[in-house]
Amino acid sequence: MFSQPYIVDIHTHMYPPTYISLLRSRTTLPMVRTFPSAPKEPRLLLLESELPSLERALSSPAANTSGEPLPGRPLTKHYTDPEAKLAFMRQHGITTSVVSLANPWLDFLEDGEEAGKVAEEVNREMEEMCSKAAASQQNREGPDPLFFLAALPTTAPLEAILSLIPKLSQYAHCRGIILSTSGLGPSHSGLDDPAMLPIFHALAAAQLPIFLHPHYGLPDSVLGQNTQSKYGHVLPLAIGFPVETSIALVRMYLAGVFDTVPGLRVIIAHAGGVVPFLAGRVESCVVHDELLTKKFDNQERRTLWQVLREQVYLDAVVYSEVGLKAAVEAVGGVERVMFGTDHPFFPPVDEKYREGMEWESVRLNREAVRKTFGEGSEEERLVLGGNAVRILGLGSNTTR
Ligand code: URA
Ligand code: ZN
Repeated sequence: MFSQPYIVDIHTHMYPPTYISLLRSRTTLPMVRTFPSAPKEPRLLLLESELPSLERALSSPAANTSGEPLPGRPLTKHYTDPEAKLAFMRQHGITTSVVSLANPWLDFLEDGEEAGKVAEEVNREMEEMCSKAAASQQNREGPDPLFFLAALPTTAPLEAILSLIPKLSQYAHCRGIILSTSGLGPSHSGLDDPAMLPIFHALAAAQLPIFLHPHYGLPDSVLGQNTQSKYGHVLPLAIGFPVETSIALVRMYLAGVFDTVPGLRVIIAHAGGVVPFLAGRVESCVVHDELLTKKFDNQERRTLWQVLREQVYLDAVVYSEVGLKAAVEAVGGVERVMFGTDHPFFPPVDEKYREGMEWESVRLNREAVRKTFGEGSEEERLVLGGNAVRILGLGSNTTR
């Protein structure tokens, strides 16, 4: 469609103004707050694993003498300011970003009506940001600079969610939705809950793919008590996150979601987590399971491999050749894998870091793509942008 080698980032987040005001107003997770040792530096607290360090920071508020960093992460302008997003893109040669609200989205809003209103505002603000960026770069060739994946109010009544989905296609820059693994309501019933099916049907009908993204990770019984104070964010983010998404995908598969909604398309964050490596083991467990063999008795069962090749796409946010090769193998070809950065998470921590310098997280991932597919190769071009333009329809910014 476009001959230039466009670089598209499909895994990149923001917190629009309505959402940040909401986080600033809260005193429980997720929240934005400051600490007496750094009163001018607001921090973003998102994860359960950050709670023990929050308790420690609050119990000895005067100083941060233990050497332990303050809880959460600094709320830099990269999380909130579209100009910072565009500057980051320029700096890394990214021509288009498909921006999504970052975790934990609207899952925590117990009042479904409020969730519905916040979703409408956040999606409206996302479209506004994309349209403004497009207007400011009117003469450029190729896809607009920004598109977005909408947020769904998962705690709102089903009818409210269903009525919102067709409206998303009226936004010129909306190309799908971002979804957590939790399912509907506050009970975390999961994406294999049959109550999700009308939503999946509506998304398929509107041709809006789901970007499935983790937030909840693994419990302390697996990660260990106080993982944050011993090992920082490594275990929740590197292992807990991708395992969570993998389990969600396999639950959807086992529940028959993909057969029931053949038009559904799902993009799995972090290169499919452990699914590319463990899909064979899932298959073996299915055919050796009394319950499942009875359930699938006499039915044409599509294997997990088939579903991966027909209804699943993966991002390329895995930072290694081994991970990228597994991702490509799992989905049956390079045409189903798309580059991403996870910006603004994983900023450089180096004291010497200055604005304008390349981010190590992007460099690592870009290098993994280059080494896996070969610099300048057709495969590299597809993963870096060609696939995203085709799969997400970025060639047109008109309503679909
Ligand atoms: N990446 C995300 O998308 N969210 C986090 O909380 C951390 C890393
Ligand atoms: Zn992310």
